[in-house]
Amino acid sequence: MAHFYDRERELKDLGIVLEGEPNLVYFVYGPINSGKTSLIVKALNSLPKDMSPFYINFRGRDVSSTGEFMNCLFRIDKKSLIENVKEYISDLAREGTDALAKLTGIPIPKRIFDPIFKEKDKGDDAFLYLEEFFNGLVESGQRPVFVLDELQMIKKVSNAAGRPLLDKLFNFMVRMTKETHFCHCLAVTSDSTFVEEISGNARMEGRSRYFLVDDLEKDRAMNVYNEFGFKDKELVWNYIGGKIGDMVRLDVEIRLGISEKDGLNRMVKETANKLEDILEEANEGFLQIEHKGKKITLHADKIMEALDLFIHEDSVTKGGILPMYRKLLVEENILFLDPVNGVVYPHLFPLRMSFFNKRTKNIIIQERIVDITVSTFFMVDINDFGIGGFFQLRVI
Ligand SMILES: Nc1ncnc2c1ncn2[C@@H]1O[C@H](COP(=O)(O)OP(=O)(O)OP(=O)(O)O)[C@@H](O)[C@H]1O
Ligand SMILES: [Mg+2]
Repeated sequence: MAHFYDRERELKDLGIVLEGEPNLVYFVYGPINSGKTSLIVKALNSLPKDMSPFYINFRGRDVSSTGEFMNCLFRIDKKSLIENVKEYISDLAREGTDALAKLTGIPIPKRIFDPIFKEKDKGDDAFLYLEEFFNGLVESGQRPVFVLDELQMIKKVSNAAGRPLLDKLFNFMVRMTKETHFCHCLAVTSDSTFVEEISGNARMEGRSRYFLVDDLEKDRAMNVYNEFGFKDKELVWNYIGGKIGDMVRLDVEIRLGISEKDGLNRMVKETANKLEDILEEANEGFLQIEHKGKKITLHADKIMEALDLFIHEDSVTKGGILPMYRKLLVEENILFLDPVNGVVYPHLFPLRMSFFNKRTKNIIIQERIVDITVSTFFMVDINDFGIGGFFQLRVI
């Protein structure tokens, strides 16, 4: 297994949550590639023997109907001929915890699954089975832990009567935690607009808690850089910050024989290109976003204004950016919105870099020097951006 770094604090907190009685539904959220999935899987793999994790990841799965949701949720047991849930659980228990502790979905005998699947409103019976199943595990001395990763994938699914599947799922999760205390329920997502919707959902108010898995702070990141063997740690910090997913990417570049600096530049380029595309579209007047059923045209200078905020600040309050522009930059994964704490910050440090590079272009073209507040100095290789040479920048 690949090496797992840091996250002691988060693992400890998760441990405290999981060793207690299930009382609340936990929403695990954080910037893209921050390591949410790895953290959860690590925690689930280290659970004591009397706990049974069920981990379902909707990434890359097509979940546009309740039937497809059920296919993801369940692992159909074709061998078992049992039709009674309690009997089935004692059967599984006899096989040992290994039969349960696989991170691949809820086991269900084919004979129970088929009739549920044929029902018009499949969801109701599926949740009844789950409740019976989790209850049965509790009675047999096991504590189930139910985890759904990439939960936003099912946000558009509704039943034949148009009722959202999420409402049913949330009711079920509240029932499993606050009401019956049968089972820990965790949902993971990096879609902050979705988290914003959930946090405004009255059904979940007072019944849920949010668990942020953020990119690492500087001192923790520096320690992980050491583990990866990165050399110019200040440079790495200025490019990718504490995003573990990006450290892994840089490590791959280096192992492929590319220098640390070139590897970082490659990663900057991706974000820079994306930002440039967005700005170009806005400049041409084609950049639109839908808001309350209306299409609104966005302007490049306003996008720049929003990004400018991060020249001097690490994060700004949610209200500090015009809602439409915030929505665009969050949806494009350029900014991360933490709706729980009401703040916005860049997903990637390269955002700053690319932004400074853009500036640099302007500076060079106009042959004048723009004053940027000082604290550290570093060099930006702008060869990759179509202009030769190096430029020295002063960055906050
Ligand atoms: N603590 C860690 N130690 C080592 N590698 C890690 C750690 N956390 C994450 N990674 C690696 O970083 C990459 C991104 O991690 P992961 O997929 O868990 O992030 P995520 O937050 O779930 O991403 P997404 O937003 O796409 O769901 C993966 O390659 C993973 O193996
Ligand atoms: Mg993930």
